[in-house]
Amino acid sequence: MSVMKITFLPKEPTAKNIAIVKLVKQPENEVVQLEHGQRHVIIGIGSAVPDRRKLVLIARQIVATARRAKIKKFAISFKDFAVKEKLDDSQLAELIAANFELANFEFIRYKTKPKEGWNFVEQIIVTGAVSVAAKKGFVRGQTIGRQVNECRELANTPGGEMTPQLLAAAAKKAARNTVIRVRVLQTGEMSRLKMGGILGVSKGSSEKPCFIIMEYKKGGKEKPIVLVGKGVTFDSGGINIKPEAGMNEMHMDMSGGAAVIHAIALAARLRLKKNVIALIPAVENMVSGSSYRPGDILRSMSGKTIEVQNTDAEGRIILADGLHYAKRYDPKIVIDVATLTGAAVVALGQRCTALFTRDEKFERLFRSAGEQVGDYAWPLPLWDEYEQEIKGTFGDVTNLGKTRYGGAITAAMFLYQFIKGTPWVHLDIAPRMTATDGEYLAKGAAGAPVQLLLEVIERL
Ligand code: BES
Ligand code: MN
Ligand code: ZN
Repeated sequence: MSVMKITFLPKEPTAKNIAIVKLVKQPENEVVQLEHGQRHVIIGIGSAVPDRRKLVLIARQIVATARRAKIKKFAISFKDFAVKEKLDDSQLAELIAANFELANFEFIRYKTKPKEGWNFVEQIIVTGAVSVAAKKGFVRGQTIGRQVNECRELANTPGGEMTPQLLAAAAKKAARNTVIRVRVLQTGEMSRLKMGGILGVSKGSSEKPCFIIMEYKKGGKEKPIVLVGKGVTFDSGGINIKPEAGMNEMHMDMSGGAAVIHAIALAARLRLKKNVIALIPAVENMVSGSSYRPGDILRSMSGKTIEVQNTDAEGRIILADGLHYAKRYDPKIVIDVATLTGAAVVALGQRCTALFTRDEKFERLFRSAGEQVGDYAWPLPLWDEYEQEIKGTFGDVTNLGKTRYGGAITAAMFLYQFIKGTPWVHLDIAPRMTATDGEYLAKGAAGAPVQLLLEVIERL
């Protein structure tokens, strides 16, 4: 991962190797021009004062433009950044710094270094009067941005090199130099706990499944926030094998797991006075002679049986055990995070996470937290009427809806069966698995919803 420094200077530097970036109220474009041997980057931001959403993009656009022009160092004036909303200096600085970092990431681990080197920005000089609060905001924003980038690095790693066991190793690595305690349950322990969902899905793979437990306890006697992340390290679809289109991206089907690992890591690094637990059921969904089959009936840890109608709806099966396990912490809230359904992408496009909850307070909290940090979530319904979709014929519940419609809701309804009575939010991040056009992020994993989770953890 490249390291970017943010430093402060009262006046604009004149050194030739430092470009000057200016945000100007002119039609939206970017121009790089030479003035007295020094490069100037002019970013047109339109005529209106940008809102927070726009600022997120502008911050990324600055870095993306610099990288394209192979600029390694640039200066920017803090007072060029202003938004419509009332933001204090530290919030503004945090937002800018986090998004500078996000735009300075690219997954290069498997690429040969070009002769002229990688085009990452190495230093940003913030000029003008910068308050102490703002400086702190910049540091915090960088910490956040870097942790999101770690999440993207993890999610981008090919399936052959990011197996369930390697995901557990990655969780331990993320917890290094923090007070997070990590435990990994192996097959024996999982059998004793009767985690029939996770064990069932993993049967077709030669990679051993595991259940990763991370505990951060700095919140005294408060009930913990329990995060549950889908850790399917590769999703072939199993016997209901996926069609050609899109299977090559299914190494990112552990993006939920990666996000909760790095959200708890962030909570620890920022020394939040909170109790946070992260649980990651980790499996590979493969096709072989030992695979679980359509028609199989799995007994989940909760005791409820799951009629498998489609082996490609595997995420909800492993999460059933994860959610049930979460209840032993007597949680303040359980938040699961999963690249769960293509249907969520169909419903929302690629700009936000699908948000499901039975609690309107949580719905408002998550929407507003997402809006604040630029990691958006939008609600879909979870009404009782949908419940009949997942009633089983030979088992208690079935993992496939009765119609082709509303697949994201069916999946959420399935999960709800295993967490009824506990405060709960489900985040289907399939829409945000990969970055999309116009958000000034590198191709591949987008790192959602690490920032949203952090903001929610702080507010809860
Ligand atoms: N991991 C996929 C969902 C997915 C699709 C995530 C595209 C990101 C991008 C999940 O396991 C899956 O295969 N879901 C099926 C469910 C269906 C069989 C009911 C789907 O969405 O098609
Ligand atoms: Mn699947
Ligand atoms: Zn999947």
